[in-house]
Amino acid sequence: MAKLVIQGGKPLRGRVRIGGRKNAAVAVIPAALLGDGVSTLENIPSIRDVATYIEIVRAMGARAEWAAPHILRISANGLDSVAVTYDLVKRMRASYYLLGVLLAKFGRAEVPLPGGCDIGQRPIDQHLKGFRALGADVAIEHGVVKVEARRLVGTSIYLDTVSVGATINIMLAATRAEGVTVIENAAKESHIVDVANCLNAMGARVAGAGTDVIKIKGVPRLEGAVHAIIPDEIEAATFMIAAAGSHGEVLVDNVIPKHLEPVSAKLREMGADIEENGESILVRGNGRLQACNVKTLPYPGFPTDAQQPMTVLMAVAQGTSMVTETIWDGRFKHVDELKRMGANIRVEGRTAVIEGVERLSGAPVQATDLRAGAALVVAGLLAEGRTEVSGLAHIDRGYEGIDEKFRGIGADIQRVGVVEPCAAI
Ligand code: EPU
Repeated sequence: MAKLVIQGGKPLRGRVRIGGRKNAAVAVIPAALLGDGVSTLENIPSIRDVATYIEIVRAMGARAEWAAPHILRISANGLDSVAVTYDLVKRMRASYYLLGVLLAKFGRAEVPLPGGCDIGQRPIDQHLKGFRALGADVAIEHGVVKVEARRLVGTSIYLDTVSVGATINIMLAATRAEGVTVIENAAKESHIVDVANCLNAMGARVAGAGTDVIKIKGVPRLEGAVHAIIPDEIEAATFMIAAAGSHGEVLVDNVIPKHLEPVSAKLREMGADIEENGESILVRGNGRLQACNVKTLPYPGFPTDAQQPMTVLMAVAQGTSMVTETIWDGRFKHVDELKRMGANIRVEGRTAVIEGVERLSGAPVQATDLRAGAALVVAGLLAEGRTEVSGLAHIDRGYEGIDEKFRGIGADIQRVGVVEPCAAI
């Protein structure tokens, strides 16, 4: 079985380059299928979720090719299917974007309810509410979401809950609707702005992305475009947290510091030095960090996707920290594994109370989801002795060469064994 073997306790030093944002990549790839021409997507990370999307695109008859490392060409030429098989979509959440894309392009889509990380309930009622409001009939039969519309007509849609996925999916569906669609109480995450920029480069008319009111004026057709996606703030946060906790000094390069403000603010509060310089952030760990409290919230609040790695830092900080997870109801699965490494954490509902210990001790641990996996890697790097992290397929879904990147800044981390290969990479 493949695993990461880590000999912990080394201060991390040097420079690490952050790749493109996973959650932007898995939205712009399907978005590119809306265009009649070829789209060139740049800064696309070579991760398993991207490989899965490439497989899905090809299985639907369209084309997806790596033109160069991190540059993906997508062409909808040949796209002849409005249905996707469960085998492919079960591997990741973002397959739900095909509903919005195929509905806009062909007026019909059949996509099985998606898979993804097991981090709690993940309904898609707000996506479906949006499609219905645009005029689609929506049914769920045998686990497959079926949407169909003779025409889509712009309207005003108020989201009952702030949802990244619903905001993007409705934006995708509305690009070619008649008239103007207004999404109210929209999510404001940076990759929503990125997807809107990509769509606008393709000829769409999306305004207001990044605020809680997004307006989309439908256009009859979209073209291909060249679009470079934004850096991955969660990959960056993972490296920043590890650098601070290891008492090291790491330049986290190719980031947009503004997107990382919630994470930088918390690291500063804990006592780390954070220096923002243009497209990079220098992180310096200053001795043992102090406890702090974190509550996950939609952007610009503290991102839930960085919560699990952050818990590790609190586990070795001085004092008692509290983490409140408000987005997902099952995102503390890493805690039991951290306890096996000596952490003192009590979970009560959606809150974890963390009594900092002097140090963690290495142990064999199992990643149960993507960010839990990243958290356990960070824990292994900070711990005394040897840690073996299994469940690598989860980590590889969202981090490109996590072991190589950590080795590049001085970590003793080796990949042993082979994770089943991704056909498309
Ligand atoms: N929700 C509903 N109804 C809906 C949609 C969402 O009740 O129709 C609820 C969810 O249950 C959750 C909250 O709204 O409590 C937020 O969910 P959201 O729709 O924003 O999440 P998502 O779009 O499914 C994306 C990321 C997640 C990230 C969340 C929150 C992708 C592919 N996934 O999920 O990323 O945690 O936004 O920022 O973009 C990760 O990368 O590790 C990851 C899980």
